[in-house]
Order: sequence, then structure tokens, then C-alpha cells
Amino acid sequence: MWINYTSYNSIKTLLLGRRSVIVFYNLFKYGVCVCIINLTNKKMKVALITGVTGQDGAYLAEFLLKKGYFVHGIKRRSSSFNTDRIDHLYQDQHEKDVRFKLHYGDLTDSTNLIRIIQETQPDEIYNLGAMSHVKVSFDSPEYVANVDGIGTLRILEAVRILGLQKKTRIYQASTSELYGGLPENKNAAGFYDENSPFYPRSPYGVAKIYGFWITKNYREAYDMFACNGILFNHESPLRGETFVTRKITRAASKIGLGLQQCLYLGNLSAQRDWGHAKDYIEAMWLILQQEKPEDYVIATGVTTTVRDFVRMAFAELGIIVEFSGKDEQEKGVIIDVDEEKALALGLNLASLKLGETVVRVDPKYFRPTEVDLLLGDPTKSKTKLGWTPKYDLQALVEDMMRSDLNLMKKDEYLKQGNYQTLNYFE
Ligand code: NAP
Ligand code: GDD
Repeated sequence: MWINYTSYNSIKTLLLGRRSVIVFYNLFKYGVCVCIINLTNKKMKVALITGVTGQDGAYLAEFLLKKGYFVHGIKRRSSSFNTDRIDHLYQDQHEKDVRFKLHYGDLTDSTNLIRIIQETQPDEIYNLGAMSHVKVSFDSPEYVANVDGIGTLRILEAVRILGLQKKTRIYQASTSELYGGLPENKNAAGFYDENSPFYPRSPYGVAKIYGFWITKNYREAYDMFACNGILFNHESPLRGETFVTRKITRAASKIGLGLQQCLYLGNLSAQRDWGHAKDYIEAMWLILQQEKPEDYVIATGVTTTVRDFVRMAFAELGIIVEFSGKDEQEKGVIIDVDEEKALALGLNLASLKLGETVVRVDPKYFRPTEVDLLLGDPTKSKTKLGWTPKYDLQALVEDMMRSDLNLMKKDEYLKQGNYQTLNYFE
């Protein structure tokens, strides 16, 4: 409107031929002022995150707040506090300029989702909520179908019921578990990409495949801006403690501090394409900023065995571990110790002996059906989204080890002071 108004005035003045230089000057000044006002008044974007208390939800909330968004998050009611990962972001709701708000909700509850979406009127929804543990999904397959599968449908339908199809963009947290790791489904270069066939190998994967297709279907059927991010494994210091990388970095730290003797794992030969969650949540945001809604693979393009991740984690403390034996008899043994490195970290490794076994296999961690190898092709996300990850695997391991060593040192101090600490073994 202001351009029309000023243009009209300037043309009129020019036609009348009166002091055109002054008019141009005023026109420019006025235009710049209104432009600045327009920019500062630009409506704050509103995002709604399901699964805000999880690893990705926490990083994404922080990222969007830094970008100036108003962020709404859905948290589940639990009998104890479950907001550890986002407590540093939470503001006293009585203060001015609050831009982060939590709502009680659940992906199994349609009416609750409809009400939250109606109240918050989001520009962007990030559907990250899920029962995300593959092994646990074999124990609670019906629940995982309800939350991870139908939960996605509930979000899409809520947006449609509320007539927000044209306003609200939706990100669906899809997963590399969809591929199932079948060798014959890789592309010619040996990677899984956006065109590789799916073959899920767990109730989690099967539930997520419904989420993938219903998102794609709603995009095509109702012209909605709904996208799948097919994310390969991503980890961080905030990773849930029962996923393999975090289980390893926590245990290595405790063993280095003399607080634990041995780490029990399942399939050491499984290979994963591990990236850093901080890089991956940026990709989620980029996917929703594009002109056209599309699906993207987010991965590093490098795959590593669980066994090698163990070696890398212990090496961060100056403990060199080597593996011998096969299958259930395989074990990880200390073959060398870098005293200088350990000392620099404040560790006294005197209690650790060369030849000591620090990793063993426990078959209870094997899965009824396993995904042996995952390796993603990030070409599309790098070229189309301009996504550039900052962490490689070494930097990820360093970040996780630094964080867990600090965490476990707190336990060490507590123990020295005769206070009780908890073990949290799985
Ligand atoms: P996460 O740490 O396990 O977080 C999952 C979140 O979902 C938590 O906030 C959890 O709440 C919430 N949630 C669980 N059940 C729910 C329900 N019934 N209703 C509402 N919320 C519920 O997972 P993440 O690693 O951040 O992953 C985020 C999403 O990406 C998930 O959908 C996951 O399946 C998917 N994904 C993850 C990876 C990866 O490597 N991390 C890779 C590909 C895809 P509580 O805190 O109360 O449990
Ligand atoms: N959790 C766990 N615990 N996994 C183990 C263990 C163990 O003690 N020992 C070996 N593993 C192997 C698993 O068998 C699997 O092959 C691999 O380590 C990785 O397991 P997780 O860290 O539990 O992750 P995931 O690959 O099954 O699933 C994660 O990544 C998916 C993306 O590919 C989760 O974050 C899913 O939500 C996500 O979709």
C-alpha cells in the first residue's frame, strides 16, 4: 500500500512540475522510513514442535528462538520433570516478550492436537514426537504404530480440519530405518538416496513408513506444504542414554574414572552413518524454507561400525581398546594407555590394567531383525538446500566425550563426598 501511495504522490507532483528534487528527496526519505517500519513490524514466525523435550526438539527450539521465532512445544505429562534438555530455554511465563511456550499434549490425542494447533496458528510444524527406540518398538509395537504412524496423520488432519493447509508448513521426522539396510536397494554408488526402495525391519520402521507416505499423500492430495526429512542417525551430548553412541560415551567416561568395570553391547558389527544433531536440525528448517515441498535425505555419506565407535570413544581418554573373539565371545581389551593424554583430562588411569576387558557382548541387546548397514547420500540436501554440516564423526565423538566426562566427574565428586549416585544401567 505505501508504495502505491508514495508512487501516486510522486507522479502527481512530477506531473505538476513542482520542485521535483525536493519531492524525490522526500519520497526517498518516506519510502525508507516506511520500509524500516514494515521490516520491524514483519510478523514473527510461529513454530510448533512435537517432541520438544527430545534430543532434536531441544536443539531445534534453541535454533528457532535464535532466528526470532515464537516457539510452541508439546510436552507429555509425566510423573516427574521431563524437560531437562530445554530447561535453559524456558522463560518465566509472567515476563514480557516470552517467545517459548509449552503445552501439555500427546500424539495419540486428536482433540488435544487440534486445540493446540488452533490456539497457536503455527506457520511451521515440526513433527518430531515419537517412540524412537528401535529395539523397544519390538516390545510395544501397537503403541509405536499409534504414536509414530497415526500420530503423523493426526497432525496432518488437524491442519486440514482447521483450514490451515495454505498457511502451515509441516516437517515430518522420517528416518533411514525405512531403508532397512538391504544391500540390493542401494544406488549404483553404494548409498541410499531419495529414490532408494524402502524395506523397514522393525515395528518402528513400519510405523514410520506410514508417516512417510501419509505426509507425501497429503502433499499431493491437498496441495499441502508437507515434507519428509529422511534423516540418518544423528547423535549429540543430548542423545538419549539408551542409544548406542551415548551408551558408549557414558560408559567409556565412567570406566576412565573408575566408576564402571565393563560395557555390555549387542551387535558390534552394525554400521551407521552418524552425524551431529545440531547439523541435522538446521536441515529440518531449511527443508521448510524452500519454494516447493520435497523430501530430502540428510546424512554424512560415511559409515562406521559400533566397534569403531567404541575405539574412538575410549581413545578420547587415552585408552586404546582392541577387539578379539567372535560373535557373543567377542570382547574389547585395553592394549595401551596414553598417560599424558589422560592426565591432561584430569584422569588417573592407574587402576586400569593392560589386558583388562572393558567391552563384552550381551545377546539381550540383539534385535529380532537387524539393520546391518546404513549409508546415506546427502547430494540433494547439499546442492538444493545448501546444507553444510559442521561436524564429522571425530568432532562428534569429541563433543560427546567431553560432555559425558564432565557429567561423570560430577558423580565422582559426589562419591568422594559419600553422596549416593545412580547408575542408570539399561
Ligand atoms: P527422542 O530424543 O527420543 O525424542 C522423542 C520425543 O518425542 C520426546 O520429546 C518424547 O517425549 C516425545 N514423545 C514420545 N512419545 C510421544 C507421544 N505419544 N506424544 C507426544 N510426544 C511424544 O528422539 P530424537 O532423537 O530427538 O528424534 C526426533 C524424531 O526424529 C523422532 O521422531 C525420531 O523417530 C526421528 N529420527 C531420529 C533420528 C536420530 O538419529 N535421532 C534419525 C531419524 C529420525 P518424552 O521426552 O516425554 O519421552
Ligand atoms: N541401542 C543399542 N544398545 N544399540 C546397540 C547396542 C546396545 O547396547 N549394541 C549394539 N547396538 C547396535 C544396534 O543393534 C544398531 O544396529 C546400532 O547399534 C544403532 O542402534 P541405536 O543407537 O539404538 O540406533 P538405531 O540405528 O537403531 O535407531 C536410531 O536411528 C534411526 C535412524 O536410522 C534411532 O534414533 C531411530 O529413532 C532413528 O530413526
